[in-house]
Amino acid sequence: MVERKERSKGMHFVCKREDLKSGEARQFQVKGVKIAIVRIDDDFYAIGDICSHAKYYLSEGEVYKEEREIECWKHGSTFSLIDGKPQCLPATKPVPVFGVAIEGDDVFVTMERS
Ligand code: FES
Repeated sequence: MVERKERSKGMHFVCKREDLKSGEARQFQVKGVKIAIVRIDDDFYAIGDICSHAKYYLSEGEVYKEEREIECWKHGSTFSLIDGKPQCLPATKPVPVFGVAIEGDDVFVTMERS
């Protein structure tokens, strides 16, 4: 968890593309908010890292590439990386998702929730 400096256009640098392998999730902290950055092939997603069911980190769960979902390891709810909605119980509330921008090899997120 590394607090990163703010960049232009409201985007915040989080990591280099090569810092994550496809199918990997990793936690970053931006402006005090824990965010899971997930890579699936050349696509990157940013999702709130705390499960909406209880306080466990989604970045420690499994990534399902085909479904574009991440699983909470504690009780098994999966969340869409697209809109943050839970796909199965016990979680019933979505987690926030954030915008991602790639500039060269740099991965940025915006704290504007999408
Ligand atoms: S803590 Fe995530 S599903 Fe229960």
